[in-house]
Amino acid sequence: MTISEELARTIIDPKAYSQREIVDAAFARLRAEQPLGKAEIPEFEPFWVVSRHADIKDIERQPDIFHNGDKSTFITNIEGNQRVKMLTGGEPNLIRSLVSVDGDEHKALRSVVFPHVTPRAIRPLEDAIRGIAREFVDHMLSFDGEVDFAQDVAFLYPLRVIMTVLGVPQEDEPFMLKLTQELFNNADPELNRARAELSPEDMLKSLWETTMELENYFKAVTEKYRANPTSEINSLIANAKIGDDYLNHRQLMGYYIIAATAGHDTTSNTTAGAMWALAERPHLLKQMQESPERINAFVEESIRWEVPVKHFMRSAVADCEIGGQQIKAGDWLMLSYQSGNRDESVWADPFEFRIDREQNPQIAFGYGVHVCLGQHLARMEMRILWEELFKRLKSVEMNGKGERTISNFVCGPKHVPIRFTVN
Ligand code: HEM
Repeated sequence: MTISEELARTIIDPKAYSQREIVDAAFARLRAEQPLGKAEIPEFEPFWVVSRHADIKDIERQPDIFHNGDKSTFITNIEGNQRVKMLTGGEPNLIRSLVSVDGDEHKALRSVVFPHVTPRAIRPLEDAIRGIAREFVDHMLSFDGEVDFAQDVAFLYPLRVIMTVLGVPQEDEPFMLKLTQELFNNADPELNRARAELSPEDMLKSLWETTMELENYFKAVTEKYRANPTSEINSLIANAKIGDDYLNHRQLMGYYIIAATAGHDTTSNTTAGAMWALAERPHLLKQMQESPERINAFVEESIRWEVPVKHFMRSAVADCEIGGQQIKAGDWLMLSYQSGNRDESVWADPFEFRIDREQNPQIAFGYGVHVCLGQHLARMEMRILWEELFKRLKSVEMNGKGERTISNFVCGPKHVPIRFTVN
């Protein structure tokens, strides 16, 4: 039942995620030998590693038994967990967002934005998003045949889309990008706040500083939108009420922060990863140009392929059985989306990027009541970008080595150097 310490350390090692083959190999072994095993690493509270697609779904469809908010929602060591509680006055998560609450509170918070991000609700945004996509395709082509697609296109386009939807002015985009990268890439010296290798203690300190900087920014946003409400998402959040009361400070800040940060980094990572896959497979661009109706399959496969959110944690509130294992009340579990999206019992050829899959039940957006709120927006903006780009691109190949972020949580490619020609 206990998995080897070496394997357990590998699947939480931020550096291992920057060389994905290492993590993929570790999870392939776990799926084959111990699909639901327990990681026991001395400085961490023990946690179950849920590596199979079916077990992840089984847990996510039982939110009354598996809570998000009772413990940290991402992997943190015992000392880190204690410090977070000190900083927040007892809460296990630095940010009280949709992903770190349960039950009625989650339902009430989710319903503030949910009706505005359904496929039907976002359809009217299509033209505006296409305008943004064309702007970024022009920007890419202005590089004259060589570009770092991650840095110069993939990080910027989803940022512009989500900031437009939220109502954040363009001049604040660099600030939002910087703080998001600090939040999600704390272990990466190229992207974190200190631009240095950090001790676990300093990592937490810098996470807290970033959170406070975001909170300061959003305080002014609340004032602005309460004075003059609009239909933008930040205005919905600012003016939302549970019963007769506005959201409390932690709920409000958590909402702004998750919408602003989860809303682009994930999509950027997926977009950058799709280009990397394309640049290494010359037949793929041709296939897409000959069969443009496969664009949705391309988008879906790129989400499965990239899996920008590597895991979320849950904690059990009652004894139960999952995948043949007895889970006890109080146990902590890691849902590995990275692993679930490579499950050999679901996909015939999980380590290959294929657009001819008959079914692609990717689980990179999660599942159940917490399933990604922005999934339809993310799909739509990626589809539109590829539609616009494929019309103009003649060839694309890698122009050097791609590089992935050092992180075990929300991450993906940070450099995708490509060489391209246009029609
Ligand atoms: C390819 C892009 C994206 C991926 C792969 C992704 C992935 C995820 C995952 C795995 C979760 C947790 C689901 C679970 O626990 O079952 C999640 C939740 C969430 N995502 Fe996304 N996301 C993406 C884009 C977006 C966008 C564009 C937005 C903003 C509009 C967004 C906002 C959120 C929010 C607010 C939640 C919390 C939902 C809840 O707990 O009820 N995401 N996302």
